[in-house]
Amino acid sequence: MNATSIMGVILGLLGVLNVFGQSNGQSQQAPLSPAPAVVTAPKANKPAPTPGNYADSYAGDEACGVCHREKVETFHQTDHYLTSKLPDKDSILGKFTPDRNVLKTSNPELSFRMDKREDGFFQTAVQGIAPYITERTERFGLVVGSGRKGQTYLFWKGDQLFQLPVSYWTELGWVNSPGFRDGIANFDRPIIPRCLECHATYFQSLPPPQNRYGKAGFVVGITCEKCHGPGREHVLRESSKVSGSPDSAILNPAKFSRDRQIDLCSWCHAGHGVALAGAFSYRPGEPIDKYLKLPEPDPNAKVDVHGSQVELLEKSRCFQSSAMTCLTCHDVHTDQHDLSVFSQRCLSCHKPETAMFPKLDHQAASNCIDCHMPRQETNLIVFDWNGKKARPQVRTHWIKIYPATTQPQ
Ligand code: HEC
Ligand code: HEC
Ligand code: HEC
Ligand code: HEC
Ligand code: HEC
Ligand code: HEC
Ligand code: HEC
Repeated sequence: MNATSIMGVILGLLGVLNVFGQSNGQSQQAPLSPAPAVVTAPKANKPAPTPGNYADSYAGDEACGVCHREKVETFHQTDHYLTSKLPDKDSILGKFTPDRNVLKTSNPELSFRMDKREDGFFQTAVQGIAPYITERTERFGLVVGSGRKGQTYLFWKGDQLFQLPVSYWTELGWVNSPGFRDGIANFDRPIIPRCLECHATYFQSLPPPQNRYGKAGFVVGITCEKCHGPGREHVLRESSKVSGSPDSAILNPAKFSRDRQIDLCSWCHAGHGVALAGAFSYRPGEPIDKYLKLPEPDPNAKVDVHGSQVELLEKSRCFQSSAMTCLTCHDVHTDQHDLSVFSQRCLSCHKPETAMFPKLDHQAASNCIDCHMPRQETNLIVFDWNGKKARPQVRTHWIKIYPATTQPQ
């Protein structure tokens, strides 16, 4: 079974139960300029009462920014926030200029053309030999991926979401979407809720088929309240300075136990898993295993580097022999990629001149990362491209000694 068909099986297993109702006026503000679908849809001022009425208690990032201005500004530069957007000339990274807007395929009778028009952005499959050409055109409806590595695009058919056949990969330009066969025009791949659960803040699932969503009221990007829980009550309390309550009415993951901290990141960084409850129903601070069946820790299992940071870190002796969490190294509110800063994190435990530090002359190394957390190819994102298979590289989180690395000078 190849990676694609394994994904297919996993995706097929995922459930669709959804406990949210409609979201309210404020939370349905998408951070970027609204797509036509969002504008034309009626805005619900009063959300229908639904179990939990979770969406009713959101405030939105702009509300947080009134008091946490700096956090919002730095956070809005991160891949989390930028991971899904509405299509516009800045959010779509692929080029639409006439010399760069065509993707040829291995099939001489099939190519794809990307067009920017007054009314939006479009992908067209051009099939056949002139004059017997047939075309199928779909509009870019949603952009998924910050573009650090790449982006893939979704289109609406009624209230169903599907993946467009052409993606953009930062190193390669326009490419066949990952897992799509070169030379075939496939517009039939549905977008299941789990995909949006990892790459957006909120979508309202509708009754089956699985890829039906409310076209209003979704929140793109991963926003503050995805990790901090609904914040309207906190905003009210802090604005009106209601005293007497020691409770800030907002979740701070720094105060979670180690397991609950890992669970928060496991929501999206521990593989696809199998949904046990509705997508978007997990609340940070709760045990994740009620919502998702994640792979059991298995020392012999081969774990792919993509999207499995939790499993890989858990294999590391660093993790097993300390109280390390993801937060030991990552501040998710800033876009941090300086490897010397990360190396300082290593040195906070592996202090030179201690038994925790190797005898060899490691002191001079300002970059512990490339040797002990090397980039590795993923087999879960594969591009069938230009007669080759292209696999992006992801940083492994299994911190250990890799044979290929040599000792620092
Ligand atoms: C009116 C000002 C105001 C707004 C708006 C606001 N906060 Fe706060 N927030 C504060 C203050 C003041 C504190 C520190 C008080 C405390 O620790 O209880 C705080 C504390 C926090 C904490 C730490 C809480 C803890 O228990 O340690 C988090 C997390 C937080 N805010 C997130 C948010 C998010 C997310 C939003 C938007 C939904 C938001 N805040 C909106 C004023 C505000
Ligand atoms: C379990 C959570 C999860 C699911 C489900 C998931 N992804 Fe991702 N995706 C991630 C994570 C985490 C990364 C980045 C880190 C990595 O590669 O390990 C990522 C990376 C990406 C990237 C590259 C972004 C960049 O520029 O680096 C794209 C594009 C993407 N995913 C699209 C999708 C699409 C489309 C779907 C659904 C059809 C999907 N993903 C399903 C978690 C998920
Ligand atoms: C991906 C999850 C995630 C997102 C999204 C997120 N945070 Fe946090 N936040 C955390 C974690 C984890 C902590 C505790 C560790 C730390 O302080 O970094 C935290 C701590 C905080 C704190 C308390 C500690 C401090 O530094 O004052 C505040 C306030 C806060 N976040 C505000 C925000 C705001 C505002 C946003 C949106 C702009 C936001 N967070 C988005 C995960 C997140
Ligand atoms: C709701 C899903 C979700 C949660 C929860 C989440 N992440 Fe992510 N994370 C993603 C996705 C999706 C990406 C890839 C974004 C892209 O590039 O498009 C990502 C990317 C990252 C990256 C690489 C980009 C960067 O900013 O350097 C880091 C590091 C990261 N996440 C750490 C964490 C940590 C630590 C936690 C727990 C506190 C966490 N994430 C919680 C979905 C999530
Ligand atoms: C929270 C503390 C902590 C941090 C941070 C930390 N480590 Fe460790 N690390 C440990 C402990 C504890 C061990 C196990 C020591 C033992 O068992 O003798 C260990 C073991 C190791 C080993 C041996 C692994 C093996 O399989 O033999 C390497 C290599 C290592 N760490 C490198 C790093 C690097 C590189 C970083 C930064 C990316 C780092 N560590 C960050 C605590 C930490
Ligand atoms: C010992 C330090 C350390 C710990 C602990 C750690 N990370 Fe990382 N992480 C790194 C470093 C270093 C990078 C590479 C940053 C870069 O290249 O810009 C990274 C990169 C990432 C990326 C981007 C991977 C890619 O190549 O696209 C994600 C996602 C991520 N971390 C998530 C997590 C999650 C989730 C956890 C907890 C399970 C975690 N990290 C724990 C050090 C750490
Ligand atoms: C050029 C690659 C390289 C760099 C850079 C590097 N290491 Fe290492 N490290 C190694 C190799 C190879 C070994 C195994 C050496 C041996 O045991 O002979 C090792 C061993 C270790 C060990 C000991 C493991 C044990 O079981 O004894 C620790 C801890 C460690 N490194 C941490 C670090 C830290 C922290 C940094 C950054 C300051 C770092 N390394 C930088 C390649 C590197």
